Amino acid sequence: MNPLIWLTGLSGSGKTTIADALKQQLPNCYILDGDVLRKGINQDLGFSIEDRIEVGRRIGEIGKILLDANHHVIVASISPHRATRDKVRTLIGDSYIEVYIQCPLEVCEQRDPKGLYKKARAGEIKFFTGIDSPYEEPVHSEVTVDTSILSVNECVKQIMKYIETRW
Ligand code: ADX
Repeated sequence: MNPLIWLTGLSGSGKTTIADALKQQLPNCYILDGDVLRKGINQDLGFSIEDRIEVGRRIGEIGKILLDANHHVIVASISPHRATRDKVRTLIGDSYIEVYIQCPLEVCEQRDPKGLYKKARAGEIKFFTGIDSPYEEPVHSEVTVDTSILSVNECVKQIMKYIETRW
């Protein structure tokens, strides 16, 4: 079974950028991007704890199907709850690789690529991760990369180095 590489981290930490670059290194690779899925299969879900748990469950199940179809899979989703990520780890088994896309909140907020932190600070968006909704940092991620220190290429190299020790 190929790996499923689950990128978790705050909004603006660089998950999608790293996913796009990492995809170039992996054959037959599919990206499950949180933002993209929220426009389709997850459009009925919001940002309450219950809904985010369901988002994580669905992404895990879709990821499993893609692994069964022999794809490499990259997930880019905030997935703020440790328990939800751990459930996916159990579902996927040894193929699950958790990568913490670490970046200080201040830096994410400064980047603010979608202008969402500004809206959250202004109270226009509720339950925004890192502002008025929690992000539980991984405690047993296979790889951690800090995007406030490393370049995209360096992050991809570190993730590939880990994958190559196992596959
Ligand atoms: S998750 O928390 O359920 O794992 P997911 O990765 O699917 O999140 O979607 C997060 C995306 O939704 C963010 O990248 C952001 O563009 C958008 N978004 C809109 N409202 C919120 C919010 N309250 N908290 C976090 N992200 C939000």
